[in-house]
Amino acid sequence: MIRLVGVVGCGLMGAGIVEIVARSGYEIVAHELNADLLQRGLKRVEGSMQRAVERKKLDDAARQAARSRIRGTTTLADLAGVDLAIEAVIEKMDEKKAVFRELDRLVAPGVILASNTSSLSITEIAAATGRPDRVVGMHFFNPVPVMPLVEIVRGLTTSEETVQAAQAFAESLGKKIVICKDSPGFIVNRLLVPYLLDAVRALELGVATKEDIDTAITLGLSHPMGPLTLLDFVGLDTTYYIAEAMYSEFKDPRWAPPPLLKQMVMAGWWGRKSGRGFYEYT
Ligand code: CAA
Repeated sequence: MIRLVGVVGCGLMGAGIVEIVARSGYEIVAHELNADLLQRGLKRVEGSMQRAVERKKLDDAARQAARSRIRGTTTLADLAGVDLAIEAVIEKMDEKKAVFRELDRLVAPGVILASNTSSLSITEIAAATGRPDRVVGMHFFNPVPVMPLVEIVRGLTTSEETVQAAQAFAESLGKKIVICKDSPGFIVNRLLVPYLLDAVRALELGVATKEDIDTAITLGLSHPMGPLTLLDFVGLDTTYYIAEAMYSEFKDPRWAPPPLLKQMVMAGWWGRKSGRGFYEYT
């Protein structure tokens, strides 16, 4: 039975996961690398719950109860007693493996370790642990409290019991699930990322202005956001790391991050999270 959930990483996705898990009645211990990042993550959770209250998706008592279930820490050992751990750190294999190695050492045998990775191999992450059958992908979508989907990713070594437990947990958060094998990008990013990269290439080629590329897609296809706005929303850094991971797996140029994307990431223009991407944010 899952009562206490550990979330490692309280960035854009981690904070969203902390929020939805707390709102669903679980106790949470949320980990970040330092006090500043932790505070920013918890502020993000509070801001989002405030919006949920304003939009009448959450009442004030439920907001306060959810907030009281969240404990922040900068010490990974504080996750030792969790019944489930969800990792949402930067999309880099070495960093994910380091977290899983530590979690494997800290948490009770049999506890499921889930990764929110959007593109990296669950099988490879699992191999860094002594419990590869208990490692699974649980891929949430941004904004986590609003997007109804979770992709459950079955690594080569993931047991059926683990997949079922991950599914039951995601459903207890009110999410719909799809199950997918451990293939780079899973379902959504396999289709989404080439489209986003092509939008950057179109801009690089001068096919149209960024505004017209976005308008074409919102008005021509009824998407809620155009691709360049969506890139700013997801994070150019995250998309760049996903593209790099997929390019290194498939060696297919359609996955290669276009130079403009790389330059923007190097310049720190990561989208909404940094105040500037294709557009500027205050
Ligand atoms: N909690 C609960 N509900 C909330 C909320 C919160 N914190 N914040 C907003 N909402 C609700 C609102 O009440 C509203 O609900 P109703 O439609 O029932 O009224 C709904 O969410 C939409 O909110 P807003 O009206 O504020 O905003 P919007 O209409 O401008 O939509 C958006 C915002 C949902 C982000 C929309 O633009 C959208 O769907 N964009 C695309 C997002 C997307 O594609 N995400 C996936 C990215 S890919 C990814 O994440 C994976 C990866 O690995 C890269």
